[in-house]
Amino acid sequence: MISKTSVFALFFFLSTFFSFALALPTRVSAKRDVYVPPVISPNNATVWTVGQTYNVTWNTTNPPAQISNPRGNIYLRQGNDTLLNPTLASNFSMLAGSQEVTVPDVTPGSDYRIVLFGDSGDWSGVFAIAAASSSD
Ligand SMILES: *[C@@H]1O[C@H](CO)[C@@H](O)[C@H](O)[C@H]1NC(C)=O
Ligand SMILES: *[C@@H]1O[C@H](CO)[C@@H](O)[C@H](O)[C@H]1NC(C)=O
Ligand SMILES: *[C@@H]1O[C@H](CO)[C@@H](O)[C@H](O)[C@H]1NC(C)=O
Ligand SMILES: *[C@@H]1O[C@H](CO)[C@@H](O)[C@H](O)[C@H]1NC(C)=O
Ligand SMILES: *[C@@H]1O[C@H](CO)[C@@H](O)[C@H](O)[C@H]1NC(C)=O
Repeated sequence: MISKTSVFALFFFLSTFFSFALALPTRVSAKRDVYVPPVISPNNATVWTVGQTYNVTWNTTNPPAQISNPRGNIYLRQGNDTLLNPTLASNFSMLAGSQEVTVPDVTPGSDYRIVLFGDSGDWSGVFAIAAASSSD
């Protein structure tokens, strides 16, 4: 014999179980949709030259199925300042894994980073920018 109480208990158990089972992946995938892939290059072994063109590359292994902002921007950052002008690249696919940029005419220094900005900003390692050679 199944009593009303045990049917209710079973229903309560199942509804709790299913709401938990449904809620958990939703929360996890909502979190994974913010896609912040790590920048591979430039890195702390890189030296760029003003006026030259290079690829910024980032790791696109295991991207989430849904990305809230699939288009990216690339900025240069010196010390603690992100240089918004010029934007080095914009409106490229965050899934591409690489994007060419041309180094703007900035003061040479060894405290530069690249900011790869899609959903959220990710910084490259610190690298150097050298002056264009005067023979150019
Ligand atoms: C440069 O980057 C490599 C790889 O991420 C790391 O192992 C190394 O400690 C870094 N060196 C400096 C000086 O930050
Ligand atoms: C950037 O990468 C692309 C694709 O691999 C390549 O065709 C292009 O020559 C690279 N550009 C530079 C400046 O290295
Ligand atoms: C890219 O990320 C994957 C997964 O996190 C890792 O296994 C792989 O080594 C990374 N590749 C590079 C070039 O950093
Ligand atoms: C960047 O900010 C940190 C923490 O606020 C500070 O210690 C450091 O001196 C700053 N660096 C530059 C180059 O302004
Ligand atoms: C960005 O790129 C997408 C896909 O190529 C294009 O449809 C869209 O018009 C571009 N947006 C801007 C502001 O250039």
